[in-house]
Amino acid sequence: MVHEPKPYSFVPFGGGTRRCIGFALATLELQVLVIRLAQRARWRLERPVTRPRGIATATPAGGVPITVL
Ligand code: HEM
Repeated sequence: MVHEPKPYSFVPFGGGTRRCIGFALATLELQVLVIRLAQRARWRLERPVTRPRGIATATPAGGVPITVL
């Protein structure tokens, strides 16, 4: 099950004009970290059928839940 956070309950990079300038790099780094960890672990997909969300840059609707075995 995917839980969406309430608005403004998770603001790790701050906001407004002083918002973290490195947020895109940091987000990419964390995505690479998760991918590299997943490559080393044994895991299974919890929802084999994934539907896209968005048009120009599609992402999996509801994420891609896995269970690490
Ligand atoms: C998980 C990683 C990171 C977190 C959680 C984070 C978080 C933050 C936060 C909370 C602020 C203050 C925003 C505000 O005052 O409203 C900030 C500012 C800043 N961050 Fe990051 N940051 C991260 C990574 C990075 C990276 C990778 C870079 C550069 C490559 C970077 C560069 C900066 C700079 C230059 C500021 C000052 C911006 C300003 O005052 O205008 N940060 N960051």
